[in-house]
Amino acid sequence: MPAAPKRLELCNAADVAPGTALKVETADLTLAVFNVGGAFHVTDDHCTHGPGSLSEGYIEDDVVECNFHNGQFNIRTGEVVAPPCMVPIKTYPATVVDGKVTIKV
Ligand code: FES
Repeated sequence: MPAAPKRLELCNAADVAPGTALKVETADLTLAVFNVGGAFHVTDDHCTHGPGSLSEGYIEDDVVECNFHNGQFNIRTGEVVAPPCMVPIKTYPATVVDGKVTIKV
């Protein structure tokens, strides 16, 4: 039987203001925690196209633009919105528990 997923605490929800992102490194993962209008979304931080860091990207609504070559991803789904990115970014369903943003891994 596969091991039950573990809940990982990433940060305080209050630390990520709406329209911003925070980079969190934990358990061998480098993640970007986004606050899109009060809803939290978590993706891999490393752009699938190169060395860009999505937590340092430009955020407009639910789209993040990579700070490196300006490729864009949908923060909710991970889908590519604009090239040169081709590969979707990995997303992790996020839940706020006791004021902390958490994911299951
Ligand atoms: S590294 Fe992100 S668009 Fe190229």
